[in-house]
Amino acid sequence: MTLRIIQVGLGGWGQNWARAVVAKNEDVETTAWVEIDAPSLEAARERLELPAERCFTSLDEALKTVEADAVLVTASLPGHVPSARTALLADKHVLMEKPFAPTVAEARELVELAEQRGRILMISQNYRFEPAARAAAKVVADQTIGRLGSINIDFRRYDNTAPVAENRHYHIWEPLLADMSIHHFDLMRLVIGQEPVQVTCKTWNAPWSKYDEPAEGALTITFDGGAVVSYRGSWVSTAPQTNWAGEWHMEGEKGELIWTSRGELPEAAAIRLLGESKLNIVELPALEALDRSGSLAAFVEAVNTNSIPETSGRDNLKTLALMFAAIESAKTGLPVNVE
Ligand SMILES: NC(=O)c1ccc[n+]([C@@H]2O[C@H](COP(=O)([O-])OP(=O)(O)OC[C@H]3O[C@@H](n4cnc5c(N)ncnc54)[C@H](O)[C@@H]3O)[C@@H](O)[C@H]2O)c1
Repeated sequence: MTLRIIQVGLGGWGQNWARAVVAKNEDVETTAWVEIDAPSLEAARERLELPAERCFTSLDEALKTVEADAVLVTASLPGHVPSARTALLADKHVLMEKPFAPTVAEARELVELAEQRGRILMISQNYRFEPAARAAAKVVADQTIGRLGSINIDFRRYDNTAPVAENRHYHIWEPLLADMSIHHFDLMRLVIGQEPVQVTCKTWNAPWSKYDEPAEGALTITFDGGAVVSYRGSWVSTAPQTNWAGEWHMEGEKGELIWTSRGELPEAAAIRLLGESKLNIVELPALEALDRSGSLAAFVEAVNTNSIPETSGRDNLKTLALMFAAIESAKTGLPVNVE
């Protein structure tokens, strides 16, 4: 059965969702598009050639007018909780962008509301739907490099060229930790297969950064199975850029797993066993759907089979908790437990 979706939020990323992801999935039909800002709605309507009678400035209006089974939230963060709450109260399933709420309390409220209403709440953690991330998770789960010790992760981008006034990204809340590192925090949970217990975080802005809030950071994160992550991230790095998932060097008792994913550099994973210099290439799985298409396919599957998706809202509370602990540590300068 085709899943009827209302999409909420038609900024740059939302438009890309509509064109490059939703329109290509034959199991889904968009019955309405919602954008709170009228000029942005009109611009998106023209660019995407959407029917005017199915475009709305409020989700309530759309819900009253069209049939839908689910709501896809691709709005900016202030629109996440209100849109998801409205959708769940109308008994719709919800797939939403990260970070799914601006506080843990609001995230929990949505998770509980979804459970009360018997609806699926899933967060699109699209970086999980990439071959090297899945291959790395399997290498670790299979104990190929044994118990994990130190894990070093670097993320570097130079997103510092646009005029300050024109680029919304320079002015968002916690552009590194809440907008970007949350992907890496979620990948840590997937690939390491352990849950975070404590984080120490320092963030800053380079003198040339155009960002209002810190665009760079260094974190130490301890996990419940003994793994320790050293993480460095930067939106304004003048060093060579990494892929979006970053560069991962994971040390286990039997050797090292190196991998990277999602970007201009080749998707790859390799193992160097202890005492050897040779790198053994890890074969990557062929995934049926990649990135956001993978998220959307998993959501459709969860709705159709009435099962809990891997990145359910409840699961994602742990990713969100690590993000908020990192933000608190950056503010206080103290280690913070992830709760
Ligand atoms: N997963 C990824 O790889 C990835 C990449 C980029 C952006 N994102 C996420 O996608 C979301 C949107 O990003 P963007 O770059 O398009 O942001 P944006 O600020 O350019 O656009 C967001 C749009 O949402 C609209 N909006 C806000 N509240 C709304 C509401 N209540 N109802 C309807 N519309 C509302 C705004 O008017 C705006 O047009 C963010 O949550 C961001 O974190 C994810």
